[in-house]
Parts: sequence; structure tokens; C-alpha cells
Amino acid sequence: MNIILLGPPGAGKGTQASRLVDERGMVQLSTGDMLRAAVKAGTPTGLKAKAVMEAGELVSDEIVSGIIGEALDDLKPETGVIFDGYPRTAAQAESLDVILSDRKRTLDHVIELEVDEDALVARITGRFTCAKCNEGYHDTFKQPKVAGVCDVCGSTEFKRRPDDNEETVRTRMTEYRAKTAPILPIYEARGLVRRVDGMADIKHVTEAIEAILDS
Ligand code: AP5
Ligand code: MG
Ligand code: ZN
Repeated sequence: MNIILLGPPGAGKGTQASRLVDERGMVQLSTGDMLRAAVKAGTPTGLKAKAVMEAGELVSDEIVSGIIGEALDDLKPETGVIFDGYPRTAAQAESLDVILSDRKRTLDHVIELEVDEDALVARITGRFTCAKCNEGYHDTFKQPKVAGVCDVCGSTEFKRRPDDNEETVRTRMTEYRAKTAPILPIYEARGLVRRVDGMADIKHVTEAIEAILDS
């Protein structure tokens, strides 16, 4: 099973992908996470991506499609994949077709998280993650059970993304509307798009996605 989670910044792609990883043994391939790791490690890709990401613009299609192909090569053919934040342009959607068919994989579902954009700024500016295990939290919607301590690994250190300020979020949303939302019709024409109410509770969104995967 190979699926794409599609939705604007803060729609819950990462949150839902990590729940599916825990429950289904699928692998999450987040180009955003992979690029952030490259920035942190100071690789050539990271050096190219850093300023673009901080501005909320899109990194080049060649770079992201390259890292997706490499990541798939590290997986067993039977491992299911959740694409989180990829593809984001028509060119990336075309590359993904080639990348998948070269590896004898097929795309099963494109799940669009439908959200109210006005709520997303609050979601994003309240977001933080564990500095050690990367578990995601939110100031209002998902606090650690014990304040200041990660539920998963017990770490007391947390971090926030440099692109999670209001101005950059607006640019990220504009990029989504201009370049990413227009790829939906490509998948609609193939009958692959399923829509989920991304404004529901985190748990209910997961249940709606699981119902699609089980259908
Ligand atoms: P990326 O990391 O993909 O960021 P994004 O698309 O802007 O999406 P986010 O990660 O911000 O949101 P999310 O949907 O994962 O939401 P989350 O689950 O965290 O990309 C970052 C940058 O990298 C891009 O701007 C670009 O520069 C570059 N890049 C990446 N991929 C690229 C590509 N393919 N091509 C070119 N450039 C690329 O949820 C958000 C918050 O809300 C959390 O705190 C969460 O707890 C909370 N929350 C989640 N669901 C709910 C809910 N149902 N109710 C209440 N709160 C919720
Ligand atoms: Mg994310
Ligand atoms: Zn942790």
C-alpha cells in the first residue's frame, strides 16, 4: 500500500503519518523532515535548501524527487509508504509516477486533508516537537501528559521550526494554493482522491483515514 497525504501546512500530514506508522508498520517519507535533517547535517542538499525553507518557498523538484527515490531504495519492496509533503508540484507528481513504476510500486490512495486555512496559523505557531525523538506536540491541542516531559522518550528538551512564524506560514500557504492544490485533478482523473475532514479531532481523522485504507 502506497499513499499520499495531501494538505496545506498544518493540515496534520505529519501527525497522521506518524500514527499510521505506529499502527500499520508503514513508513513515512516526509520530504520536509528529510530536508530538515539535511540542513542540520550541513550536507550539500541542506546548504541549498536552508534559505528556501526559511522563506517558506519550495525547494527544487530535482532535489526532492532525488531524495524520495533514494529513500525508497532503502526500503523492502513490500513495505507500505506514506508520502507526506510530496509531491507538491505537477513536475513532482510526474516524477513520482516514474519513481514508483521503476520500483514496481503503485499508488493506492491520495488522501486530501480538508481544513479551514484560518485555523492553520494557530496550529502551526503552537507546534513544537521533542528534540530527541521528534514526537509532535501543540501548546493547546496536544500537550505532553506531564508538562515539559516527552510522553514517548522522557526527554525534557523541545524545539520549534524556524519556518513556523506567521509570515512564513502565509508564504507556505500561498505556495500550496499556487503549486500543490493544482495537482489534485491529476489524481482525481485517476479516481485516487479520497477526502477527509482534517478539522476533526486528531483521533477521528486517523479513524477516517484507516477506514479508507481498509476499504
Ligand atoms: P513540510 O515539513 O512538509 O511542511 P508543511 O507542508 O508546511 O506542513 P507542516 O509540516 O507544517 O504541517 P503538517 O500537515 O505536517 O501538520 P502537523 O501534523 O505537524 O515542508 C517544510 C518546507 O520544506 C516547505 O515549506 C519547503 O520549503 C520544503 N519542502 C518540503 N517538501 C517539499 C517538496 N516536496 N517540494 C519542495 N519543497 C519541499 O500538524 C500541525 C500542528 O497541528 C501540530 O502541532 C499538531 O499537533 C496539530 N494538529 C494536527 N492535527 C490536528 C487536529 N486534527 N486538530 C488539532 N490540532 C491538530
Ligand atoms: Mg509535517
Ligand atoms: Zn521524545
